[in-house]
Amino acid sequence: MRVLLAGGAGYIGAHTAVALLDAGHDAVLLDDLSGTHSAAAERVARITDRTAPLVVGDITDDAVVEKAFDEHGPFDAIIHFAAFKAVGESTQKPLQYYANNLGTTFALLRVGIARGIRSFVFSSTGTVYADPVDLPFTEEATTSVDLSNPYSKSKRMNEVVLADVASVNPELNVTVLRYFNPVGAHPSGLIGEDPAGIPNNLMPYVSRVAIGSLERVGVFGDDYDTPDGTGLRDYIHVVDLAEGHVAALEKSAPGYAVYNLGTGVPVSVLGLVAAFEKAVGHELPKQIMPRRPGDVAATYCDPAKAARELGWQTRLTIDDACRDYWHWQQSNPAGYAGV
Ligand code: WQD
Repeated sequence: MRVLLAGGAGYIGAHTAVALLDAGHDAVLLDDLSGTHSAAAERVARITDRTAPLVVGDITDDAVVEKAFDEHGPFDAIIHFAAFKAVGESTQKPLQYYANNLGTTFALLRVGIARGIRSFVFSSTGTVYADPVDLPFTEEATTSVDLSNPYSKSKRMNEVVLADVASVNPELNVTVLRYFNPVGAHPSGLIGEDPAGIPNNLMPYVSRVAIGSLERVGVFGDDYDTPDGTGLRDYIHVVDLAEGHVAALEKSAPGYAVYNLGTGVPVSVLGLVAAFEKAVGHELPKQIMPRRPGDVAATYCDPAKAARELGWQTRLTIDDACRDYWHWQQSNPAGYAGV
């Protein structure tokens, strides 16, 4: 298939482009480069020895999406990764988050449907699940738009839009993929997560401590009702996550479908730090801090539906993720900016 990846030069997008190209599909990246670097597209081509054209522009603009179709189409499918995704920032900039995270979807749907795509795959999040009593979350667990932050709300709103658009476009396969916590990097060390500034997420922060650019790991709370008192999350290796997108595209059923992409195996903050220390070969400085506002004690999924219907399940572990992330970090101390 020929696939347009909106946000395709980003962390998940670039890894998915590699997985698609390695599986024999064609991939074109469309990105505004607000959260990444054009070098990622070159690295995708280097890893796969295939071309991965990059179109740069504001994806909320229909004309930019039309340009991608004019220059590199036709496309069988669109995979939509393009969103602002910092939870904390979203509480400070709600209008920018809703305008971008919904505006990109509207432009991609208007142009994609008009130009005859057959499949639309959407990058959603496990943070749409609203009630921890449902753990481990299946796709039928309670969701809500009344979530703790505009980022997560915008993702749930997108799901509602996609379900309604699918209902009036029966020929369009719409697949929503709810990610849990993406971690790790491609084993080549050529592509990886490249957050700007001080990372909010745990693994990039731990990695910056390991490489010496941050002083110590702050553990946000050790008084949760969990085995070691620290927060539990479902950390999925980004290579597994990317392969989940290929499986979703190749198996996409008519109509609207939702799948969790996670391991189903919760890991604690201290558990992830210990795994990273194993990869680095020595202990890392850490300090117990107060809980971070808005954090939940635990979130992890039941991934059985994706295994059953997509023939996909994770195969990589938290140790693989820490090893691969550390290889990426050591090979690119300043991320893509250092190229
Ligand atoms: C993980 C755990 C923290 C940093 C985020 C996004 C969410 C989704 C997945 C896209 C928690 C603890 C963290 C640190 C810590 N992204 N922590 N010290 O918050 O589960 O989810 O990624 O869909 O939208 O919010 O990820 O990595 O920030 O936190 O102790 O310096 O690590 O309390 O228990 P989170 P995270």
